[in-house]
Amino acid sequence: MQNEPSEALGLEESEDVGRNPTDNRTIGDIIAVRYNRRDVLRGALGVSAIAATVSPLALVAAGRAEANASRFVFDEVAVGSDADHHVANGYDADILIRWGDPVLEGAQAFDPQTQTGAAQKRQFGYNNDYLAYFPMRGAGSAARHGLLVVNHEYTNGELMFPGVRGEGPRRIDLKKITDAHVSVEMAAHGGSVLEIRRENGKWRVVGDSRYARRIDAETPMTITGPAAGHPRMQTAEDPSGRGVRGMLNNCAGGVTPWGTWLTCEENFHFYFLGELAADHAEARNHKRYGVPGRAYMWGRHHARFDVGREPNEANRFGWVVEIDPFDPTSTPRKRTALGRFKHEGAAGIINRDGRYVLYSGDDEAFDYVYRFVSRDRVDTTRPEANRDLLDYGTLFVARYDGDGTVAWLPLVHGMGPLTAENGFASQADVLIETRRAADLLGATKMDRPEDVEASALTQRVYVILTGNDRRKDDQVDAANPRAANRFGHIIEMIPPDGDHAADRFAWEILLKCGDPSIADVGATFSGATTRNGWFANPDNVAIDSQGRLWIATDGNTLKKTGRTDGLWGVETQGEGRGASRCFYRVPVGAELCGPCFTPDDETLFVAVQHPGETADEGSPPPSFETPPTRWPDFKADMPPRPSVVAITKRGGGKIAS
Ligand code: FEO
Ligand code: CA
Ligand code: CA
Repeated sequence: MQNEPSEALGLEESEDVGRNPTDNRTIGDIIAVRYNRRDVLRGALGVSAIAATVSPLALVAAGRAEANASRFVFDEVAVGSDADHHVANGYDADILIRWGDPVLEGAQAFDPQTQTGAAQKRQFGYNNDYLAYFPMRGAGSAARHGLLVVNHEYTNGELMFPGVRGEGPRRIDLKKITDAHVSVEMAAHGGSVLEIRRENGKWRVVGDSRYARRIDAETPMTITGPAAGHPRMQTAEDPSGRGVRGMLNNCAGGVTPWGTWLTCEENFHFYFLGELAADHAEARNHKRYGVPGRAYMWGRHHARFDVGREPNEANRFGWVVEIDPFDPTSTPRKRTALGRFKHEGAAGIINRDGRYVLYSGDDEAFDYVYRFVSRDRVDTTRPEANRDLLDYGTLFVARYDGDGTVAWLPLVHGMGPLTAENGFASQADVLIETRRAADLLGATKMDRPEDVEASALTQRVYVILTGNDRRKDDQVDAANPRAANRFGHIIEMIPPDGDHAADRFAWEILLKCGDPSIADVGATFSGATTRNGWFANPDNVAIDSQGRLWIATDGNTLKKTGRTDGLWGVETQGEGRGASRCFYRVPVGAELCGPCFTPDDETLFVAVQHPGETADEGSPPPSFETPPTRWPDFKADMPPRPSVVAITKRGGGKIAS
């Protein structure tokens, strides 16, 4: 039948496909230009800071002389793959909360055999991703009592429900997914707000907290900004175009200086079924985003997730959502001024002129890096004055040039090609079809942009690119210099004189990832990096108070890199620049998300997502019945459970110092 998905996709696999039809910057002629770019930089931009850094390549050339250059004080974890997680010696990695644990008052005890949507609505959701810690206001110790906000990105039905594994490589047999399964899935998405407290050195979730909240795929939300109310945002259920139920596939996020949580919708296309006629007004738009993604059966039971029945619903997903974590009755707001794409995160910084600048990557092969600059200044004395700050401002997309500069191209209706002639009749059209607008501006097609974050210490901005093995030899460019980029890389951008609103920044590749002992891989970790210290497929990043990066990875396996995913500390400054050390690793089949420090640097929270999603060679295909791990419970009747982990130093003290 029309709505029958042709195949159950591997849930994250379609991110690698790439849907960018343009030929922006795909000519492999820029590397030679780039050869002399340090000189260009000094002349064109006067960025003196870059001269003070040592490139990772130079460090490799210098051999192992700087073997002790890393300032990370901890014993490295030995990489590998097994059913458990592992943290550096001398640290505790304690489970804070697991999928199914109670969040709201009256939550039922978790029973995977009899799980229901109603139970799931009061319990901790699936696939914890982004984490942020908000110190409790007016509390005694800001670092020991606060709110932890958690994104629940997606669900793995094959591990959650008995009897739904597909044949062969198909994770799920979607024909076996019932309305009851769909209810659990919809309730397991979204986010959680938890009140947490540290007592006697250990963290716990405060029971029956007045702050506790579950947000799911049906929570009412308000649409704000230039696209709110536009006819393309209107549906049968919501003729106003200003109210939508739920947020989907919330991956990473950010914290604003005025105390709100930004949570970002990433692969929203997965949730739609149905067909749209090729000549339908939304057909081109939906194609550019991969809608319908047909990975879930929601469209069978809910008309709004069937594009044939409700063509505009998909336009109401793919946004950054702003939430006040301290008010569980507040309505989340989808901020359309920040653009519609597969947002990884939205990490911001107050610019030197007082405006707020947010960076965000569009996580798909050959998609783009974006920046939003607010129109108004942040009022740091009155948080409530910034309530609608993110509704007004300019969205830009990045074009990385071969001279070592990046140009920020404004996505403004009426400017350049963004006119009615090209199908953009208003700013709402530009924002709803952000990707196509960026295509026309000639943005640089990147190797899957994940987190993009600025360091408050150095003002440098890190662009995490997780990899893109579909890039061909003739598609390499200065910022994406490896064809078949299986392992990813990290770009460092340098705003001139720390001005994050400037039209042009300088940029540099900080690291090319992968095994540095294999010449063909072309990795550029410093010589101080051990066989445990290198990593591949960087995804999320936390920047600590010393300006060091903590990189969480997604995509490592025993077969690919001899290791599971995990957390690596990376030096960015001084003679240790490019040195990396392994601090933590996850159970088989998991990815690591959400690294987040408390303000005293004594606790590092991490989110272990989809443990057991993939198996090492020789194990049966992952399913509820035969998962490759039953972490963290290790009980015969309990499937693996995505969980948040609190890492602390035994005996107290700052992490890695
Ligand atoms: Fe949800 Fe980009 O990982
Ligand atoms: Ca991610
Ligand atoms: Ca990921």
